[in-house]
Amino acid sequence: MANNDTDKNIQRTVSAQPRLHQHGAEIQAYGTVNHLLPLELEEPVRLEMTALLNQLLADTMTLRDLYKKAHWQVVGPTFYQLHLLFEKHFNEQAELVDAIAERIQLLGGVNIAMAADIAETTQIERPPRGREDVPVQLSRLLDAHQIVIRQSHKLARRAGELGDDGTNDLVVSEVLRGNELQVWFLSEHLVDVPLVRTRSAAAEVL
Ligand SMILES: [Fe+2]
Repeated sequence: MANNDTDKNIQRTVSAQPRLHQHGAEIQAYGTVNHLLPLELEEPVRLEMTALLNQLLADTMTLRDLYKKAHWQVVGPTFYQLHLLFEKHFNEQAELVDAIAERIQLLGGVNIAMAADIAETTQIERPPRGREDVPVQLSRLLDAHQIVIRQSHKLARRAGELGDDGTNDLVVSEVLRGNELQVWFLSEHLVDVPLVRTRSAAAEVL
């Protein structure tokens, strides 16, 4: 009899129908760290690191999206080069987003992911929906980089103090140095030099 019941249960659970519209409780809350992998990093260290990394992630995702906005909306005589440059920087920021998010998961944390949560968390000022001119686009991007760089210095220093060498290396080697390079490429576009005729006093005017 017991065997017959078991057989019936098995028949009922085997079906080719996909099980759609399922709901359930979260299996790990945001802001917690789970299982201890053999990483030689204790829970308080991983908690603090994942919290700081999530702030860096929210800011990096915002900067990434700011680049796409600039890529689409740029206008003017430098359109072509800036359209391509913004796309290049967007792709590099997307790589950083993935590296930071996966570092958080690796440390046992939960990474921030969705736009609404990013918007609530980021320290970067929200831009208008409309189009802005090139100098304003560049200034806005540089301000965002400054925030990411400030957060990177803070995080790297703290990771060093706590002995999280992997986070320190990721933040310094990839995030910080990547952002520093992008800052250079943007900043040079804000130097006010003439395009056709020099303003140098020593120049021979024809
Ligand atoms: Fe595009």
